[in-house]
Amino acid sequence: MVMTNDNRLRLDYGNMMAPSLDGRGITPERLEGMAGRFADLHVDVARRREAGELGFYDLLDPTELPAQIQAFADGPGQAFENVVVLGIGGSALGATALLHALRGSDWNERDADARDHYPRLFVLDNVDPATVASLLDRIDVRRTLFNVISKSGTTAETMAQFLVIRDRLMSAHDDPEAYRRHLLFTTDPEKGVLREIAEAESIVSLPIPPAVGGRFSVLSAVGLLPAALVGIDPEALLEGARAMDRRCHTDALAENPAGLFAVLQWLADQEAGAPIHVMMPYSDRLYSAADWFRQLWAESLGKRVDLEGREVHVGPTPVKALGATDQHSQVQLYMEGPFDKTVTFLALAERERDVPIPRLYQEVPALGYLGGHTLGQLLDAERRATAAALAEHGRMNMTLTLARLDEHSMGQLMMMLEIATVYAGGLYQVNPLDQPGVELGKKLTYGLMGRPGVEAADLPGPDPRWVAG
Ligand code: PA5
Repeated sequence: MVMTNDNRLRLDYGNMMAPSLDGRGITPERLEGMAGRFADLHVDVARRREAGELGFYDLLDPTELPAQIQAFADGPGQAFENVVVLGIGGSALGATALLHALRGSDWNERDADARDHYPRLFVLDNVDPATVASLLDRIDVRRTLFNVISKSGTTAETMAQFLVIRDRLMSAHDDPEAYRRHLLFTTDPEKGVLREIAEAESIVSLPIPPAVGGRFSVLSAVGLLPAALVGIDPEALLEGARAMDRRCHTDALAENPAGLFAVLQWLADQEAGAPIHVMMPYSDRLYSAADWFRQLWAESLGKRVDLEGREVHVGPTPVKALGATDQHSQVQLYMEGPFDKTVTFLALAERERDVPIPRLYQEVPALGYLGGHTLGQLLDAERRATAAALAEHGRMNMTLTLARLDEHSMGQLMMMLEIATVYAGGLYQVNPLDQPGVELGKKLTYGLMGRPGVEAADLPGPDPRWVAG
């Protein structure tokens, strides 16, 4: 049940299985019974990959891009004190996940020496004026590179941020041309407003391949450039992703980690009453990876219609939680509430840093046992104990263990979850690459903001009968 090997990502799914859960969960026979369907699905995914429909796979092909990104990051990129990503959704979450996993969420608080003189990296993925104004108060725009990331080049949030920043840059420089040195666009290679502006105003730009959707774009320039600017090695990330891709070349379900993850989650949802899929890292640095996964799983699989156009309203609900913090917040519910969840723990086999717990108050039983261990050991013990306790309560859970927090492991993890998402799309029989459900909200917003050609809908105000306060 445990898949092991050196620096490989390990998936332990024993606690998804009925023998560990006193009959609840997935029987070995049922899982084995999925082998044929999975093999067909795998062949179909391979065919679509071959046809160029699943562009995120092509990001693994050897190209000049990682070297170009590295050259920019090592050269012009180091002239800046700050890098600010302007983007949202799939154009932001991957960069944040990589920054936090491989540099730490406290990166921007560290001084230049502690950052090896790499710039600070802020990912501005909302238009909350309080956040935007506060960031602009703290940074000097003349020492900042703004990486505007938008595949479509039309996303209202990102475009509004861009307008605010462009204006600030123009006012900050006497030379009217200087603003452009502080901008780098990552967008579609041919289409969209950003592409047009890049060309008209000679702004440096990087492409997002047309067949790569936002939430599958972390291994394109979307994620790789911000990562490289803070010293994360893009080629090593891609190497990790390639290693995972090789492991997922097989149509044998038991050998294919992405296939197992997708099939187990789908069976849990469809046949074992568990449509809520919690991802719970026992590492603060991996919390944003759970956030990235939440978007990938939700936006790809939550769909009104299936591939035949039938109304189905399917999709699991991904949830993120953090160990050990949420043991004191969520785990009571996971342990004793409805049997409607799976929990995927993210674990680290090796930690870069650990903190010994001193042997103090040895005579006090509530404290003495802790001394001589480390905080990392305590965290791991809590994870293992929570997994075992959940199983004891008949709650499905599995553990993904990264060898360590490095580029190779993150590349493996992200690639595995992307491939799993495509397999899961096949199992749910929905298109994992589109997101039609967000269109109406966008259109209504355009109308409210007066975009030409979009009629402002007459949105009803609050009905006084149903308003309190
Ligand atoms: O995954 C997706 O496709 C979305 O979340 C997009 O990334 C998000 O809507 C931003 O789109 P764009 O990059 O076009 O600005």
